[in-house]
Amino acid sequence: MKSNKINDGIVGNIIIPSDKSISHRSIIIPSISVGISEVKNLLMSDDVIHTLNAFKAMGVKIEKKDKKIIIYGKGLNSLTKPNKNIYLGNSGTSARLLTGLLASQKFETILEGDNSLSSRPMARIMNPLKLMGAEFENVSETLPLKIIGKKLTKSTIEIEIPSAQIKSGLILAALNTEGVSHIIEKNITRDHTENMLKSFGADIKIDKNNNQTSIYIKGKKELKSNNIDVPSDLSSSAFFIIAALINKGSKINLNNININPSRNGILKALKKMGAKINIGNQRTISGEIVADLKVEYSELIGCELDSDMAKFMIDEYPILSIAAAFAKGKSIFRGLKELRFKESNRLELIRLNLVNCGCDCEIINDDLIIKPSEEYIPKNNKIRTDFDHRIAMSFAVMGSKVGNLIIEDSDSINTSFPNFIEKFNSAGGNILW
Ligand code: S3P
Repeated sequence: MKSNKINDGIVGNIIIPSDKSISHRSIIIPSISVGISEVKNLLMSDDVIHTLNAFKAMGVKIEKKDKKIIIYGKGLNSLTKPNKNIYLGNSGTSARLLTGLLASQKFETILEGDNSLSSRPMARIMNPLKLMGAEFENVSETLPLKIIGKKLTKSTIEIEIPSAQIKSGLILAALNTEGVSHIIEKNITRDHTENMLKSFGADIKIDKNNNQTSIYIKGKKELKSNNIDVPSDLSSSAFFIIAALINKGSKINLNNININPSRNGILKALKKMGAKINIGNQRTISGEIVADLKVEYSELIGCELDSDMAKFMIDEYPILSIAAAFAKGKSIFRGLKELRFKESNRLELIRLNLVNCGCDCEIINDDLIIKPSEEYIPKNNKIRTDFDHRIAMSFAVMGSKVGNLIIEDSDSINTSFPNFIEKFNSAGGNILW
């Protein structure tokens, strides 16, 4: 696709798609609960559809009725062996969460993914699961991965890598394991799994102590079905927020956005950069905090973010880097090691594409340094995305200022934000497909 310069701003009330992380969990948790759960506003993106199909393949009855998805759960041990390998496309969240869940089931499964997912690390979830007795048949520690489901033993596990996917995979394994499992998280990460499990009646206790969280799960207690209303995704909102902040004349309203404190770092970072963002009408829906946001064009200033911020906004660095490229003064974002293990090596692709756009950008160790210019004249207008949706959308926003950027392999946008182009264009953007 080609992203062209816009002259007027990004305006209007924009309906942002539902949260991807919460949508995955809204299929997984009802599927292993007892009873009927109704899920309103499930995100129907490629990644989430892969999770949905996985549970259908494991015998869960799932129906679409009006605008809701109805899931007929039959309990922790009700899943059945799928009659073929489970294909998860590009979805890292499905891969890590299902590995945990399936490690404690009574059958063997093989998880597969596309080329990008098949090169992403799985040892990070396999190794802690092995401490609980999990068994895998795999030497490469990437997908395809054969999971030999079996009875696991309760353990105390410390998670070294800041990752909600690892934590959630372990929690799902612990749910079907006799006794109390203790998971220690050294870094705070998004807590959607814990929030949802509480409302499904799980025996889960969480102790927060400085920067360390202890999660105790008593396994083998059946979950009770519940209804879920999935809020809109802050990560998807970020593309519109930054497009509005950097384009003169912009004014947008984004309603019903999830601002869970474990992942709203982008709002804090942008405030630090001088962004005019009003956060109003805060309320709790299905155990998650949501709010309405009003955003307008702002003169941004560069900022330094500590590595401590990374876990609160890991998915937002690509688009935040675009904001930094149009701010006044240098930005330094520290401690971005985990960005190398996402749908692409995001750290490297941010640098490469910004440099190609004419921006002075470098990586020193795991820190990203962006020195903005007054004007950008691209040296190479082809944006390499390696099929990464967030890189594609971030540079589409860059294109709204720089003009004439060709975003390669942009189909990946469907993994999290179907209709991104239509929405962007109807708010004032100029993307050609
Ligand atoms: C996610 C967790 C994050 C995030 C991903 C979604 C989740 O990954 O990058 O897009 O839904 O749990 P990590 O937990 O590996 O950092």
